[in-house]
Amino acid sequence: MKKLVFVPLAAAALLFIGQSVFAQGNLPQFGKDPIKDIIKHMTLEDKVKIVVGKGFSLPGLDMGSNDKTPDKIFAVSGHTIPIARFGIPSVSMADGPSGIHRWAMTAKDSANNAYSTAWPVGTLLASSWDTTLIRRVGVAFGEEIKAYGIDFILGPGANIHRNPLGGRNFEYYSEDPLISGSSAAAIINGIQSQGVGATLKHFAANNQETNRNSVNEIISERALREIYLRNFEIAVKRSQPWTIMSSYNLINGTYTSESNDLITKILRDDWGFKGFVMTDWFGGKDAVAQLQAGNNLLMPGSPAQIKAITEAVKSGKLSEAVLDKNVEGILNVLLKTLTGKGYDYPDKADLKAHAEVARTAAAESMVLLKNAGNTLPMQSEVSVALFGTHGYDLITGGTGSGDVNKPYAISLAEGLAHAGYKVDKLLENSYRDYLKDYAAKHPKKAMLQEIMNPTPFAPEYKVDGGSAAQKADATDVAIVYIGRNAGEGNDRKMDGDYELTAQETDMINQVTEAFHAKHKPVIAVLNIGGVIDVTTFRDKVDAILLAWEPGEEGGNAITDVLSGKVNPSGKLATTFPAAYSDVPSAKNFPGKEFPEKATMSMIGRSVPAEVTYQEGIYVGYRYYNTFKVKPAYEFGYGLSYTNFSYSKLTLSSPAFSEKLTVSVTITNIGSKAGKEVAELYLSAPKGKLDKPSEELKGFAKTKLLKPGESQTLTFTLDAKALASFNTAQSAWVADAGEYKVTIGASSENIKLAKSFKLVKTIIVEKDHKALAPTVNIDELKSNN
Ligand code: BGC
Repeated sequence: MKKLVFVPLAAAALLFIGQSVFAQGNLPQFGKDPIKDIIKHMTLEDKVKIVVGKGFSLPGLDMGSNDKTPDKIFAVSGHTIPIARFGIPSVSMADGPSGIHRWAMTAKDSANNAYSTAWPVGTLLASSWDTTLIRRVGVAFGEEIKAYGIDFILGPGANIHRNPLGGRNFEYYSEDPLISGSSAAAIINGIQSQGVGATLKHFAANNQETNRNSVNEIISERALREIYLRNFEIAVKRSQPWTIMSSYNLINGTYTSESNDLITKILRDDWGFKGFVMTDWFGGKDAVAQLQAGNNLLMPGSPAQIKAITEAVKSGKLSEAVLDKNVEGILNVLLKTLTGKGYDYPDKADLKAHAEVARTAAAESMVLLKNAGNTLPMQSEVSVALFGTHGYDLITGGTGSGDVNKPYAISLAEGLAHAGYKVDKLLENSYRDYLKDYAAKHPKKAMLQEIMNPTPFAPEYKVDGGSAAQKADATDVAIVYIGRNAGEGNDRKMDGDYELTAQETDMINQVTEAFHAKHKPVIAVLNIGGVIDVTTFRDKVDAILLAWEPGEEGGNAITDVLSGKVNPSGKLATTFPAAYSDVPSAKNFPGKEFPEKATMSMIGRSVPAEVTYQEGIYVGYRYYNTFKVKPAYEFGYGLSYTNFSYSKLTLSSPAFSEKLTVSVTITNIGSKAGKEVAELYLSAPKGKLDKPSEELKGFAKTKLLKPGESQTLTFTLDAKALASFNTAQSAWVADAGEYKVTIGASSENIKLAKSFKLVKTIIVEKDHKALAPTVNIDELKSNN
């Protein structure tokens, strides 16, 4: 009885204290009640807080804040705004594709060892042509993201390598959409298997850094669908990333983040994307247009965006139903996050175990470009003269948000020493003194300046003929080491970047002359983030190992390959052209500027610009092969310390219906165990559309085959693999006729071929009409 009286009294007391307290008790709660119910109870102010991030502020840098609750994770790139009444937490997002990036490390963070593994960059991982390996990296990466309590990692980046000068190519995978999309899907599946979200970026066509916030990319619908969107399509369909980041640029006149065609019609309606879309940081111009397009979340979020959206709803310019839909898209994903589930993270990661994964992945992906007279592998007892500053100062990965707070970076000098090689000490000491002196004279700048304008590396140390000759007497082998770095905000330059610097050429000349005079070999190691001109030195050296940017274990991984502990099995996922002028986009990169229309905003001066993708679908090997332009090293190329034979190419049927299976047997016919990547190219019959001479439609890697051992690899072709995008029909169409399947060790080194027929033309997939250019593009045609 007592109880019965007490309850209504308590309720009455609560009512008396304040209506809101009572109401709060009855509000639907995040994680317990349906998201739709929460939205029904939200005020306009609440809803706007969900679609605009918390703001960007770091110690000493405040770019506007929407919410003062302390950040859950220190110095990562972004957070959402919490709403306590509904139990909606703030979730955190950290860069980037090659490891966790914190914009500032406090003494406490360092003391707690809050460092993160620097994984091999995307371009190196893609060179493995091994999605199982890439997934393994994703799993370890995901464990680390989870261990540090981060909800979303802002990666992978999957844009196409349109031009070798692209400043962020290192973050991306390939010039080919199949490799790019498959690699992205593999890492996303690995990361997300750990219960943390991946953010596939930058959607789409962010293929240059020059004027990245203002450049209008004029691209045909076909080139978009077959090249610049196909990579994302494959990744979305195979891995359903929790989130996608729209890019900074415009496509055919509209900012990607404001494009309903891109974000709703293509991404959601054509491809079935289920997650939410966020902007790139401060990307796009019009917050209302972004929400209308279906770009759910505006990052990092500014007070001006909150104001614009609130006013637009009040004035009827933005319907509240559209806002609700964007809110729902975000909250549905937040339910899955670590924070959404109340996960209590240890804030400690198993960096030792992850370093092992990073080392294996790097070594398994490096590409052996040249090995004259079996210079490599190096015998264990040889002494080495290591020339080149970066041989002592590894470049693990690129700059900006792609940089990682790594615990260490193993240089090649250290890697060689770990493996027991004698590295010439006097030479090492002179390099180390030189680097120390340079660093003291060129201190790093403040954070943002460093991102937009990184402190240049020390120029190559001068090697004179006398010292090269001395080393040629004193040691058995020379290594010439070339380093390059780049990052967001800037494209690379020709002079001293795509091309060698005068000092580097001098170093190679002195060393090769001196060592060759003593009949001793010279090995070049390329620690680069993007393609360089190899034609000026490849004939001078005896072997070339392309290590790309291999992450923190780089020096150990390079040594694993040089020593033969790992037999190289990587292949180029991007072409090394014979001349920059051969690159199909060379005439149209980075486009025209309109400085008279420049404006200022919080991200600095913005110059409107325009670039026309005149090369159309002829990107990378699609161009070089079709137009018979011989590159320095072709797409798909890479050597091994053993040899393989290809046999028994079998098609499941001489005629295509729905699917076709292709198999081929690979045999190790050399004397060392090794792995081989087999590449399947398809040549489609001439129909109504212009077609490349061949396109990659499948790839597979063998296990480690012992000498004499064989393995049969199988590939499946579906109807879409046969199809091209027909703009007039907005459809993927497979033309009737004869299709030639070729299996190669590279795009030029074709081993076996067979054909099948498609009896009737099929419309494989009908898509929305979207992203049509508003101007005429004089597109390249092969007239095959
Ligand atoms: C980059 C993104 C990055 C974001 C957050 C932008 O400048 O383009 O890739 O994720 O910053 O740091």
